[in-house]
Amino acid sequence: MILVFGSLNIDLVAQVPVIPGPGRTVLAPSYRTHFGGKGANQAVAAARIARPGRVSMAGRVGRDGFGDSAIENLRANGVDADRVIRADEPTGCAFITVDQAGENAITVASGANMTARAGDLASELFNLDTVLVLQMEVPFAHALEAARRTAAASGTVIWNLAPVPEQMTREMVTELLAVTDYLLVNEHEARDAATAIGLASADYEAASAGLAKSGNLTCIVTAGAQGALAVTVEGTRLRAPAQRITPVDTTGAGDTFVGAFAAMISEGVSLQRALEVSCEAAALKCLKAGAQTGMPMRSAMGSLA
Ligand code: RIB
Ligand code: NA
Repeated sequence: MILVFGSLNIDLVAQVPVIPGPGRTVLAPSYRTHFGGKGANQAVAAARIARPGRVSMAGRVGRDGFGDSAIENLRANGVDADRVIRADEPTGCAFITVDQAGENAITVASGANMTARAGDLASELFNLDTVLVLQMEVPFAHALEAARRTAAASGTVIWNLAPVPEQMTREMVTELLAVTDYLLVNEHEARDAATAIGLASADYEAASAGLAKSGNLTCIVTAGAQGALAVTVEGTRLRAPAQRITPVDTTGAGDTFVGAFAAMISEGVSLQRALEVSCEAAALKCLKAGAQTGMPMRSAMGSLA
């Protein structure tokens, strides 16, 4: 089973000519509402690719209309949402601007997500078959506890270190690496994590090799047009090329990669294949606006045909 413990947000998205800097105002013609949150995005991406009935999500939303629709959306996508709990805080909301090149800037108002607790997860959820998927949008201590419970049950921990917290301490990164089997990061996150634990790294490749070694894990870096790189603890490097596309919206591309990767790992395919499938899924996602809209179904994936 793939268990995603993480955030659920509603994304309010404005298409802007340029992303405004501090003190600036730009006018957008309108805005659109999309389902988002790194946790929910990864759960939906995984469910569209995994075999039916394999994905569950745990987290918290508010007792508000956004919370109702976030839960309904998970169910509509075949994600078991029985472990999404109602909190007194409002449902998480992300304020997103997307520019003409498809680049984005995001502010997340966490709300209910910051009340998520590892104690909400029943012990039956943790076993050999558990693939736990984590990000950085719920309290770190609780994500860590869920990871430790998974590791203790000999399950698999996939941790997407995104977004990198403002204050990321050496202790946090050390604890995270210790319980993680697959660390999924972009180039910046790879270097930030390496720096936090005192590794000098010339580039993201060196950073990921250092992280793999110190955490006794496999580090996967998504590097945009350069595709994806995996470095194992032994230092073996695998690559998958990025597909050439003209992006409409890159929001959720990383989440699509993570969800697809989790689906592949839970099926036990090779690391090389998992990388290729995840790269294809992330590229297809970028062809549509909204974090989840473009996430491909298994049947639409050339690499799974
Ligand atoms: O990774 C994209 C997501 O980050 C968005 O859906 C937004 O909700 C933020 O959490
Ligand atoms: Na580890």
